[in-house]
Amino acid sequence: MRITKTFAETRTATAGRVGLVPTMGFLHEGHLSLIEAARDGSDTVVMSLFVNPLQFDRDSDLAKYPKDLERDVDLAAAAGADIVFAPEADEMYPGEQLTRVNVNRLSDEMEGPNRPGHFEGVATVVAKLLAGIQPDRSYFGRKDAQQLAIVRRMVSDLSFPGEVLGVPIVREAEGLALSSRNIFLSVEERAAALTLSRGLLAAGDLAEAGERDAGRLIAAVLVEIGTAPDISLEYVTLASQELVQPLDELDRPAFLAVAAWSGGTRLIDNVHFDGDEAGFVADRGSRLKTKSILYGGEG
Ligand code: PAJ
Repeated sequence: MRITKTFAETRTATAGRVGLVPTMGFLHEGHLSLIEAARDGSDTVVMSLFVNPLQFDRDSDLAKYPKDLERDVDLAAAAGADIVFAPEADEMYPGEQLTRVNVNRLSDEMEGPNRPGHFEGVATVVAKLLAGIQPDRSYFGRKDAQQLAIVRRMVSDLSFPGEVLGVPIVREAEGLALSSRNIFLSVEERAAALTLSRGLLAAGDLAEAGERDAGRLIAAVLVEIGTAPDISLEYVTLASQELVQPLDELDRPAFLAVAAWSGGTRLIDNVHFDGDEAGFVADRGSRLKTKSILYGGEG
């Protein structure tokens, strides 16, 4: 396992089919599942680790972002990464940067209005990673459904070579989607947060049983969340996987996504529906059998 600091050094260190896993570090099993997926189809797996200031809409969030390079390097190596590309800000953003990438329409809904400038920051840094590392495949989690759609569209619209792959959500044993932010939840906030995944999974069952009405799928999520008095909901929306436009009806590949606050922690989760009008399959992701490495234990 090698640690690289520059794009040039990283390109020189790769051989054969290159799989790229972009991250901002403080790894958990969700990130590790991306490395494992990349391992499958690549000769060289590069995990990038860069806390991208461009995509943070609140400075306090950026300052609070957990960092532990040594821990991340050990975990990435154990999961099968060959290279950890951990650039300094100067390598990523040398001098004044006048270019930004915006993927219109796909950024308009859901996370877009709630986090001004966020997707511009994401698309710009991912474009730089793809240009600088030139992977054959890059891997993104379905956890960030809108981000995945935006990256796919950017790669297609800007003719980046290489393929984008979406990887199912990894959940904690009780169902909560893994996120580095989960470490901030108190016992009560965690109990309330569990209503998000419970509601989404209930909606998944309904859709697989043939329910197509967005209102009724959304209602299934709201019923669960309603049992937790302390959740502050931002949205529950059914949107198309391709364009991230709200749907009244499940009639194409879509995802049902929720964003909510439990105490001071903002959480997002979703269930993807794959298939067509003949029938949809809900991607529920997978669940850990033990406590996540996020909590410091041996897992
Ligand atoms: P980060 O939040 O570190 O996430 C890195 C990758 O891990 C993303 O593709 C994300 O969707 C995936 N991921 C996170 N939690 C997951 C889970 N529980 N299950 C499966 N995958 C999960 O997303 C970013 O970083 C940044 O925006 C980035 C793409 C690196 C650009 O800066």
